[in-house]
Amino acid sequence: MKTIKLDYENILSFAGKDVILSWQGKVTEAYGKLMGKTGQGADFLGWTNLPGNTADEMLSDIEASAKKIQSQSDVFIVIGIGGSYLGSRAVIEALKPNFFNEKSETKTRIYFAGQNISSDYMKDLMELIRDRSITVNIISKSGTTTEPGIAFRLLKDLIESKYGEQSKDRIFVTTDRSRGALKKLAGSMNYKTYVIPDDVGGRFSVLTPVGLLPIAVAGINIRELMRGAGDMADICKSDKIFENPACTYAAIRNQMLKIGKQIEVLSMWTPKFHYLAEWWKQLFGESEGKEGRGIFPASCNFTADLHSMGQYLQEGQRIIFETLVLTENEEKNIFIKKDPENLDELNYLEAKNFDFINKKAAEGTSRAHHDGGVPNMTLRIPELKEYYLGQVLYFFEISCALSGYILGINPFNQPGVEVYKKNMFSLLEKPGY
Ligand code: PA5
Repeated sequence: MKTIKLDYENILSFAGKDVILSWQGKVTEAYGKLMGKTGQGADFLGWTNLPGNTADEMLSDIEASAKKIQSQSDVFIVIGIGGSYLGSRAVIEALKPNFFNEKSETKTRIYFAGQNISSDYMKDLMELIRDRSITVNIISKSGTTTEPGIAFRLLKDLIESKYGEQSKDRIFVTTDRSRGALKKLAGSMNYKTYVIPDDVGGRFSVLTPVGLLPIAVAGINIRELMRGAGDMADICKSDKIFENPACTYAAIRNQMLKIGKQIEVLSMWTPKFHYLAEWWKQLFGESEGKEGRGIFPASCNFTADLHSMGQYLQEGQRIIFETLVLTENEEKNIFIKKDPENLDELNYLEAKNFDFINKKAAEGTSRAHHDGGVPNMTLRIPELKEYYLGQVLYFFEISCALSGYILGINPFNQPGVEVYKKNMFSLLEKPGY
């Protein structure tokens, strides 16, 4: 079976193999903390074992719920913020056809709510779904987060007014095993509830019911996703920098920071990866950005952003390194035809397909950025399939944990996100603030 590959050729003129290898001591120490569960935040390492430890019954239960949701719903709304929605959205958008909600054969359309407090967004969504059959999945580990909480109030109200006694079949809850307001409500209303394990934090929860239920509702094979993650877990069973791609990536990232590259741009070459980049930004940003440290994670959608951010990347401050994410084989292809007039002078592309041209654009860009002082790596994904996406998710999670430990921070907390909440609560005159 093929695997994802990290190609670091365009790093070597900025940091040779010997320089990357000089991180071996730190990588070994970080790897030991992660696997031995002896580092900071060790109570939140349950995600490392998810591919091997998730019971078959759990997957079957999720698949059964997904079938029920598909059969009873024109629309399925995933309510959650941060780690409670980004993983499922990343996988769904990567693996479903573009515009899948618009396709006539799509029976259950999927929408997301609770990631913003925009009245426009909520009003438009409510109008869109009002006359359709609806099921919602409210996802919140704490059960107290404001954004999904207020979105759920509105949607619960709509469901209750439409379905009365039968409402409980249309509300699925994913939350903490025992704590929080949502757990209490789910218990009292007898909603079908999935548990987010205590030892898995939001941004590492895509392979728990947090991600798996919405992904299964989208008709994606969650067993293949888990199998890919499991195979990546096996590949990551080494602390040797050039044997384990997560160790390679973690070592290179820290070396880049050491030479002043404070920003990592993840550049995506298909619009389907927009949310994969959003998930990655949360994973690394919330995990590493603390105590005045960390690499700032940014992303670009190419080639669109080559016509905007491309200028900065090529000639702006030399504080950036880049990781390109490329799919080796695009399933669908579309070819350029000959035009007898050739007024646009594009006949030289005759019979070439879009994917071929996209790959040449990526190759040209990685060379140009390298020559302009932006070291870059490429993560190569063999195909856009569940199995490989499972590998990608697990690869980034392990890399993030290792990278954070090398950096010397606790990758599993997020004390900084409380500050805005305190101010907002006080401005909203919440009792006690
Ligand atoms: O990674 C995290 O812990 C956060 O991004 C959370 O996922 C996010 O804040 C949502 O929290 P909750 O699931 O408690 O509503």
